[in-house]
Amino acid sequence: MDPERAQSYAFVPRPGAVPLTIERAEGCYLFTPDGTRILDAAGGAVVVNIGHGRREVAEAVAAELERATYVVPVFATESRLELLERLRREWLPDGLDRVYLTSGGSESVDAAIRLARQHHVAAGRPERTKIIGRDLSYHGTTVTTLSAGGHPKRRAAFGPMLTDWPKAPACYCLRCPLGKRYPSCAVACADDVERIFEEEGPETVAAFIAEPVGGSTAGALDPPPEYWPRLAEICRAHGVLLIADEVMSGFGRTGKKFGVDHWGVVPDILVGGKGLAGGYAPLGGVFTSDEIVAPLAAAGEDLMFYTFGAHPAACAASNKVLEIMEREDLVRRAAEQGEALRKRLAPLEDHPHVAEIRGRGLLLGIELVKDRDTLEPFPPEANLTNKVVGAGFAEGVFFYPGGSGPAQDVIVLGPPFVIGDEEIDKIASALCTAIDSAVERASSA
Ligand SMILES: Cc1ncc(COP(=O)(O)O)c(C=O)c1O
Repeated sequence: MDPERAQSYAFVPRPGAVPLTIERAEGCYLFTPDGTRILDAAGGAVVVNIGHGRREVAEAVAAELERATYVVPVFATESRLELLERLRREWLPDGLDRVYLTSGGSESVDAAIRLARQHHVAAGRPERTKIIGRDLSYHGTTVTTLSAGGHPKRRAAFGPMLTDWPKAPACYCLRCPLGKRYPSCAVACADDVERIFEEEGPETVAAFIAEPVGGSTAGALDPPPEYWPRLAEICRAHGVLLIADEVMSGFGRTGKKFGVDHWGVVPDILVGGKGLAGGYAPLGGVFTSDEIVAPLAAAGEDLMFYTFGAHPAACAASNKVLEIMEREDLVRRAAEQGEALRKRLAPLEDHPHVAEIRGRGLLLGIELVKDRDTLEPFPPEANLTNKVVGAGFAEGVFFYPGGSGPAQDVIVLGPPFVIGDEEIDKIASALCTAIDSAVERASSA
């Protein structure tokens, strides 16, 4: 497509911006109309797990569209039932058998928050209204999910419209918000969640929400092993529902089925998106237990559906994507290739502008700074992250831009799980070159 024409179609086009046009995508690569090949080190927006362009998924979607184009979400279809059975049989943590499907991450977190609230109301606890989240987090872009999240840039324009729920400190050991050090801190940032519950009055708190491994906001923040078990303990002690937002970290991305599996925690509500259908269709999900839905059922209530939730074609896509993940043992591959990528990035650990490389499996974040001793960032106007992404394109690799607040400049890596060793080498060498070139430009500006 002519880029000028594409721009006129863009939603809220920025004057002068010419979008990159992708003609097709295959495996780990994107192709532009002139045949340029770009290695997708970001899996889109950390979505694509089985790789791009798998014909068998396209065929499953086409077959389902012929069979059942649109069916209101409260009815069963073959594809919905098959997906539900597969999720219960192969994927969901024990006890999280109740499934509510949406068309994406924000919708799912929004529904999880509604579910938590409806659960308490139906159980006779209408005073539980607050959703406690954390600084440096992202749970979606609806007004409610922005309120629960702590992404300064994405919240900026909406401040007065957001509900002012308190935020717990991020579990960000590199720049500990409490000025402590692990392990002597004894995960004081988790205990701070309890302090907030007590200050607010635990009986007013409906749910606590967090990403098991962080997303792009601060770049794959990966907590110490005691953190999630402690969160679960605190929530349980105060009757607060624990929501694990696994929109980015779920469905194998961190090398286990779900991030919480690294610590043996089963939340009250688990939210999935992105990897659930691997980018082949818009689909998200809220997964919970009989215990959480029981009060709603007893009160004769339901969680209102979204018109396009559980779309039959999306369910067919997801069912096939998950089947491929199982057949090809791709969760294990994400763990193995994540380690391989981490090893190949080792030389960057000593780079004068790399503060930290962190994350799990194939969800990694590289935080960049002006001075790695003081952790002073580059001036915001240097736009270092965007410069690295631009320089990455020149090397034929797409890196995902992240960072917000104190974690200003972060590059996120989230390639497809089918990534090969040669591509891992390419990501590592292109990232070194892109960082050097961006730093040079930022320093001479
Ligand atoms: C942890 C987390 N939650 C929610 C969302 C929102 O999902 P979506 O963009 O599909 O609405 C994202 C998106 O990046 C995410 O990473």
